Formats: sequence, structure tokens, C-alpha cells
Amino acid sequence: MELLPHGYTNHTTHHAGVVTKTYKGRDAQRRMEREATALCGLETLGAVLPVPHLIGCTGETLSMTFLSGVHGQDLMEAGRAPEVLHACGAALRAVHSVDASEVFPRARPGSVLVHGDYGPNNVLLTGDGSRVTALLDWEWAHAGDPVEDLAWCEWIVRTQHPEHLGELDEFFHAYGFRPDWETRHQAMVSRCRELVDFQPHRIGLLIETEGWTR
Ligand SMILES: Nc1ncnc2c1ncn2[C@@H]1O[C@H](COP(=O)(O)OP(=O)(O)O)[C@@H](O)[C@H]1O
Ligand SMILES: [Mg+2]
Repeated sequence: MELLPHGYTNHTTHHAGVVTKTYKGRDAQRRMEREATALCGLETLGAVLPVPHLIGCTGETLSMTFLSGVHGQDLMEAGRAPEVLHACGAALRAVHSVDASEVFPRARPGSVLVHGDYGPNNVLLTGDGSRVTALLDWEWAHAGDPVEDLAWCEWIVRTQHPEHLGELDEFFHAYGFRPDWETRHQAMVSRCRELVDFQPHRIGLLIETEGWTR
């Protein structure tokens, strides 16, 4: 049994090709159901998106297949930030091309599928960073505004890889659109507010984010 690195909320382990994710914190069951629904829906759609196959759920634990690849944040640290961010932008374009109602039956037809925690923290890639091999962590997926994912990926880079801020150009270029700073900043702040409700110890990150002028 191997504890998987880069988990920020839950407890995720791997054994013999099966990944087991036990949800921690508020609304654990609801987040698990959301991830299960997203994985099933994306697989049924035959979407071009590489997501794990859902094996099953019991209690607050979900099982899925293990996908191979190198973690986005490890590759960023290893000098592949431009490639990783480019691949993240291209993959996000594919995510946003999915009609959310095909994944979440209660969503309005024509609404956009938003990942909800998008960034190099939740992708695996080929060793050269050129291609995403796994899109993970769908517990926050919902029908929403694409700027949420664009802003959140930027937030992850700003807070966890500040030395690679310049390479975000690659991300927006590959995605094909860069909302203006005010729109992105507002999206970052509102997501931080939601996270403070979820995990009050994150208050410092909200205050820091609110203070950014660019
Ligand atoms: N199906 C999978 N195949 C391979 N690695 C995985 C898989 N699911 C999760 N992981 C690894 O475990 C980490 C934590 O899982 P994740 O779903 O992101 O949990 P958290 O919500 O705690 O961030 C991921 O960043 C990734 O490194
Ligand atoms: Mg994660």
C-alpha cells in the first residue's frame, strides 16, 4: 500500500493498480458522489479526456483505476513548467467543451463542465510534459463559468510556483483565451472565500489573494 503524494484534502492510496480515495472534511460523501458521477459521466461520454475508471464507492471511500504519468507539480519543479502549463491549457479546453448536463443530469443543457480544482496539482503527464495522461480529482466538478478553472490554475501557480508566473502565458495561449485581470482576480478571491468556509485555517490565503494587484 503506497500513500500517493500531492493530496491536499483527502487520503489517497495505491495498491495493485487500484487507487483508494477516502474523503476528509465537510460534505465528504457529497464530494465523493460528485467525483463518482463525473468519472462515470466522462467515461460514458467516451470523452477524449483521460480520467480513471470508477471501480466503486463504499462509505466515504471511492476506488478507481491507477493511471500512470508524472505529477504536474513534480514536472514543474524539474524545469518543465512551459510544457506542463501548455498541456494543462490544451486539456482544459477539452474539459470545457463538455456539456455539463451530459455529466450531471440536473445541470442546464448547454452549460459548461468546470473541473473545480484545476491546475498542475491535479494532472499527470508524459515525462516530457507534452501531454496530459490523467485528469484527476473531480470532487469539485460542477456546471459553471470557465473562468473559475482558468483563474484557479493561475492561483495554484501564483501560490505554489511563483517563479513560473511568466510561463502562464503558455497556459492561456494553449487554452485560447485569457480573461482580463479583474475577472480572474475576482474568481480567485471568491474561490478562496469558499475554501475558507470549508477549511477556516485557509484564511491567510484569502487575505493574501485579496491583496494582489496583479
Ligand atoms: N487514479 C489515479 N491514478 C494515479 N494517481 C492518482 C490517481 N488518483 C489520485 N492520484 C494521485 O493522488 C493525488 C491525490 O489525489 P486527489 O484526488 O488529487 O486528492 P486530493 O483531493 O486530496 O487532492 C493526486 O494528486 C495524484 O498524485
Ligand atoms: Mg488533488
